[in-house]
Amino acid sequence: MLKLENINTFYGQSQALDNISIEVKDGEFVTILGANGAGKSTIMKTIMGLVKASSGTISFNGQDIASLPPWERANIGIGYVPEGRRVFPELTVEENLKMGAYSVKDSKVIATNIEKSYELFPRLKERKSQLAKTMSGGEQQMLAIARALMLSPKLLLIDEISMGLMPILVNHSLSIVKKLNSAGLTILMVEQNANKALKVAGRGYILKTGKIIMHDTSENLRNNTEVIKAYLGE
Ligand SMILES: Nc1ncnc2c1ncn2[C@@H]1O[C@H](COP(=O)(O)OP(=O)(O)O)[C@@H](O)[C@H]1O
Ligand SMILES: [Mg+2]
Repeated sequence: MLKLENINTFYGQSQALDNISIEVKDGEFVTILGANGAGKSTIMKTIMGLVKASSGTISFNGQDIASLPPWERANIGIGYVPEGRRVFPELTVEENLKMGAYSVKDSKVIATNIEKSYELFPRLKERKSQLAKTMSGGEQQMLAIARALMLSPKLLLIDEISMGLMPILVNHSLSIVKKLNSAGLTILMVEQNANKALKVAGRGYILKTGKIIMHDTSENLRNNTEVIKAYLGE
């Protein structure tokens, strides 16, 4: 479904991604693990087109998307939950969801998708008229996920779902992502919390200072002494 080949990305002179190749197949749940500053968010932004790769190819369902603007990538089926959630603070929950559906013309489709979000996150329904900025971190994370689902993506990119959340909320958010994956949504999730990510994802890549140094099934990564020492040894 998604294929990155030999991607190099720079910020000015400094190289953030070094020859990255990643593949996510239809229906998979893949995680990319790495420490702070490893380049996780840069991978997500490169896939969305928010940062331009200087070389390499990105294809989605066989289509070369490297030259498409971010909104077009969203329209062809790539959903994005950014780091730090980035909900619209001054808008209500329901207005945030409508913003997520900005390119949908049919108001019935929008209403149906909002209802689906409320089924998945009953808490958002209870709070639909509340301003996003007044919600807790966990609730904002739910809203960010629900908003990303408004365009009915085929692939969902999630940037550090665990950031700033209490463990119980991290588990709750991850269980919802797992449920979405079981229902057929393909997931690519970058995460610092290797333990938790490897419990829900089927496969993982390990990113170190812009390079993929290892990739394997989650089970093998969890049993790999090198990985345990570097990422799971807390
Ligand atoms: N807008 C930017 N301008 C310059 N350097 C950046 C920018 N964003 C990220 N970087 C640098 O690129 C590297 C990777 O950052 P990032 O992708 O945010 O890592 P992660 O998400 O894994 O913490 C870091 O060294 C970071 O300082
Ligand atoms: Mg990041």
